[in-house]
Amino acid sequence: MTENDFIPKPYSKTLENGSFTWSSPSNIALVKYWGKKEHQIPENPSVSFTLDHCKTTTTLSFSKKESNDEFSFDVFLDGEKKENFKPKIETFFKRIEAYLSFLKSYHFKIETSNTFPHSSGIASSASGMSALALCLMSVEKQMISSDVTLSALETLIDDNYFNQKASFLARLGSGSACRSIEGDLIVWGTHKEIANSSDYYGVKYPHAVHENFKNYQDTILLVDKGEKQVSSTVGHNLMHNHPFAERRFEQAHENLSKLISVFKTGDVDTFIKIVESEALTLHAMMMTSMPYFILMKPNTLEIINKIWAYRVKSNSKVCFTLDAGANVHVLYPENEKETVMEFIKNELVAFCQNEHYISDQIGFGAQLIS
Ligand code: DP6
Repeated sequence: MTENDFIPKPYSKTLENGSFTWSSPSNIALVKYWGKKEHQIPENPSVSFTLDHCKTTTTLSFSKKESNDEFSFDVFLDGEKKENFKPKIETFFKRIEAYLSFLKSYHFKIETSNTFPHSSGIASSASGMSALALCLMSVEKQMISSDVTLSALETLIDDNYFNQKASFLARLGSGSACRSIEGDLIVWGTHKEIANSSDYYGVKYPHAVHENFKNYQDTILLVDKGEKQVSSTVGHNLMHNHPFAERRFEQAHENLSKLISVFKTGDVDTFIKIVESEALTLHAMMMTSMPYFILMKPNTLEIINKIWAYRVKSNSKVCFTLDAGANVHVLYPENEKETVMEFIKNELVAFCQNEHYISDQIGFGAQLIS
């Protein structure tokens, strides 16, 4: 599929008004997306676990308007109108207009809420942009839905296209959002060993996954709930002319190749090495860019050291990963759920802001609510 495959044919129906609600999860990258080209094309492939509890629910209501010369929408978070969310959504609409030709014909009311606190330092862009993309896809689907009953095969092709285009649109809102439509393991970006992988949208990880990685747990330790010190756009741009960029992009390909055999054999020790190295490399890229940033806080390092010490002491398979911030995602197999939670409560929670953490696990993607 290329970009042109997502340009719609003229719609067969016009709708006066309506509304759709989707809930869509966050995701946590194991091989990180860091660096992008124009049009939200990633510099390297990434792979992520889709999360389950951390999600955004969005209701998109639409009503036909007289003129179609500009975008018209209002955004609400938890019932409160949010003027400061509008520029990001305006940019999103501009980027996707070519692929959803009805956008300027309607006024939209976007009502959104997150299961995690807005000021938790957890980025809501992946769950938020994917939920909005899915709502827009539901509008499009209604405009092209035929009156004839589809065969089972046609319905399957239809659903695939729906998810693929939703992921394609979500990517144009926020790159990592394209990995939130489905689960439980999603690859975004072309990779030679992942058939049908694409820079345009996420695809389900196609190879065998060992039992060890089923229901993997992710406890998110909220070390710093403040606003992001570096926006993702600024962050990705730091990879332009970065002295280590090319080698880093190659390394992401290599790490994804290694993960393919790790997922197959269930080799959690190698999984830990790759995942922790990816997290530290992401931060190393930020520390070695110009300008440079340190996004970890002292408590981030305290937690990492505690995890390493616990692993030596207990033979646990617990490990960590990081996003572009100070919070720590603690990853561990389901069979260690009780012991690792004890460890987290006894030794790690003290390093969180207000002892705040979120227990999550792998999930299976977005859901249509109504
Ligand atoms: C560090 O998807 O937030 O979380 O495309 O500019 O919206 P934009 O960036 P974004 O970047 C996320 C980067 C990351 C790693 C990852 O999720 O792969």
